[in-house]
Amino acid sequence: EWTPGAFVDMTVAELKEKIGDDKVVLGLSGGVDSTVAAVLLHKAIGKNLYCIFVNNGLLRKNEFDSVLDQYKDMGLNVKGVDSSSRFMDALAGKSDPEEKRKTIGGVFIEVFDDEAHLLEDVKFLAQGTIYPDVIESISVNGPSATIKSHHNVGGLPDFMKLKVVEPLRMLFKDEVRRVGAEMGIDPELLGRHPFPGPGLAIRILGDITPEKVRVLQEVDHIFIQGLKDWMLYDKVWQAGAILLPINSVGVMGDERTYEKVVALRAVESTDGMTADWVNLPYDFLQKISNSIINRVKGVNRVVYDISSKPPATIEWE
Ligand code: XMP
Repeated sequence: EWTPGAFVDMTVAELKEKIGDDKVVLGLSGGVDSTVAAVLLHKAIGKNLYCIFVNNGLLRKNEFDSVLDQYKDMGLNVKGVDSSSRFMDALAGKSDPEEKRKTIGGVFIEVFDDEAHLLEDVKFLAQGTIYPDVIESISVNGPSATIKSHHNVGGLPDFMKLKVVEPLRMLFKDEVRRVGAEMGIDPELLGRHPFPGPGLAIRILGDITPEKVRVLQEVDHIFIQGLKDWMLYDKVWQAGAILLPINSVGVMGDERTYEKVVALRAVESTDGMTADWVNLPYDFLQKISNSIINRVKGVNRVVYDISSKPPATIEWE
C-alpha cells in the first residue's frame, strides 16, 4: 500500500544516491507541485538545491513577496528574480492568446537561463512534473504546465542540457498534497488553487498593460479573499477573474460612466480536463460584486461565468 511516509523515505534515499554532492537548480512557481518537489530535494541534498522564483509581473496581488517570504521561512535556498518589466516589454502590443503564451514562455527561459548561468557546476535541473503533466505533454493541446513544452523556442538553452530530476512524476495531485503534508508544508500552501504559468496574462483579454494588470489584481484579490472569508475557497477547485476587452455604460451620481467589465469564474473539477461552474451563493456574489465596483476604479460591471468545460475552457484564452 502506498503511503506518503514511505514515499518520502524512499525518494529522499534515491535522490541522495542519484545526485550525490552535485548541485541542482529548480524553478519555483509558488504552486503545490514545485514546492513539494523543492522540499523533497531539500531534505535529500540541503543547500546544494538552488531555487529560482521568477516574478513575471503577472502574479496575484502581493504574491511575489508573500510567497518568497514563505519559502525563506521553510529554509529553502531561494532567489527571487523580479523580471516584471522584461515580461511587460516583451508583451507590449501583443493580443493574440498563443502569441502571449509563447512570449511569456520565451522570456521565462531567457531569465531562467541567465540565472542558471550564474550558478557554477550545476548538474541537474529539477521540475515539479506530476503524472497528469506527463500524460498531457503527450497530447498536443494540453496545457503547458512546465518549461519542457516550450523548449523549442530558439536553440536549446544551456540549462536544458542539464540532467532532469522529476521526483513527483508518478504521483497524482492528491498524492502530492499528502506528501507535502507529511513533510510539514503549510496546509494553506498545499490547498492553493491551480494557477496558470502565464498568470494574469491569459485573464486579460487582448493586450497587456501594467494598469490592466493592477486592476485585475485588485479584482482577483477581492474575489479570492471573499471566497476565503465565506469558507468557500476549499470547496472550489479553481477561481479567478477575467478582465474583458470592452467598456460598458454605467451611472455614478449624475454622471454617465463608460468603464471596464470583469467576469468572475469558479469551477469544480478533479484534474482540469473537465469542469463545472460552481453554484456560488447569490448573497456572496452580491457582496463581491458591490465591493469590486465600489473599490476598483475603472470597473463598473461584474458578470459571472456559467459555462462548463467542455465546450468552454476554464481560462478564457
Ligand atoms: P483550460 O483553460 O485549458 O485550463 O480549461 C485547464 C487548466 O490548465 C491551466 N492552464 C494553464 N497552465 N500554462 C499553465 O501552466 C498554460 O498556458 C495554461 N493554460 C491553462 C488552467 O488554469 C486550468 O487549471
